[in-house]
Amino acid sequence: MNTIAVLTSGGDAPGMNAAIRAVVRTAVHSGIKVVGIRRGFQGWVEGDFRPLEAKDVAGIISRGGTILKTARSEAFRTEEGMRAAFQQAQKHEIDGVVLIGGDGTFCGATEFAHRYSLPIIGIPGTIDKDIAGTDFTIGFDTAVNTAVEAIDKIRDTAEAHNRLFLVEIMGRDAGYMALHSGLACGAEDILIPEVQTDIDQVLRRIATDERRKKAVHILVVAEGDEVVGGVHGLQRKLANEFPTLDTRVAVLGHIQRGGSPSCADRVLASRLGYAAVRALIGGQAQVMVGIVNDELVYTPLQCATKKHTQIPADMLDLIRVLAV
Ligand code: F6P
Repeated sequence: MNTIAVLTSGGDAPGMNAAIRAVVRTAVHSGIKVVGIRRGFQGWVEGDFRPLEAKDVAGIISRGGTILKTARSEAFRTEEGMRAAFQQAQKHEIDGVVLIGGDGTFCGATEFAHRYSLPIIGIPGTIDKDIAGTDFTIGFDTAVNTAVEAIDKIRDTAEAHNRLFLVEIMGRDAGYMALHSGLACGAEDILIPEVQTDIDQVLRRIATDERRKKAVHILVVAEGDEVVGGVHGLQRKLANEFPTLDTRVAVLGHIQRGGSPSCADRVLASRLGYAAVRALIGGQAQVMVGIVNDELVYTPLQCATKKHTQIPADMLDLIRVLAV
């Protein structure tokens, strides 16, 4: 290993900069040169490379976003795009690539690895936490804490007005963020894609709370939940069923992706960045580094995707149990 490249891809996540820093510093420590690829796979295809030295990553551990920028690339999905990316890697004499991203990133890398021989190590960086082979993904802890802070604030105003709030939480088609933030905020109900939403049951719970004259009702709804019409459709349904209930919708959106990473995300990112470079030096390829039960683990990239993840049964049961 003389030169390695690092890129961030897909939706940014707080802690990506901490991972870039750890990759660069671990490589420099081992006498390896680092090239940063800007704008994810798109920048790889186009050859948007620049050298990264230890000083280039000074002061970024506390910053959200990604200094390398990120993108969702259509070009990398094509044969020509992948060929161009491989040629760019050859031109810049890249011996290995560290990818920081999520499910889409690892699917793209798997396709690439079927065609071209270049060692690739993945680092799980996504607020969605929908990746197998790791207990946590970089950005999840920060994003979920941002959501918790926001929902706690919403509860204050909901209580002041005796209102029902539908709070939409990001996560694409995974419900981890909604589940964790909903549980942490004592939400009256949590709707996630992993559990079939029984709308009659949702209405019955609200009706019971209404009879009990409950002052506040917070429904946390994952953006990927199959509820018809999303939070706005649900709000219309509630208006029909409970005409006297004052209902509001809050879509937290991209605020969940920004901000300074939490301590947990900075430490996770540092450990994974270090492990990724060590894995390349050790001759590993086409694996994602993760942490399970506080131990570093290596999972084949094609297995580190969302279809292999599962929410623990006790957490799903908690939604029902704590909502009594
Ligand atoms: O994957 C991260 C994520 O923030 C998802 O939770 C969300 O569905 C999606 O990205 C939003 O993507 P974009 O920023 O491209 O709209």
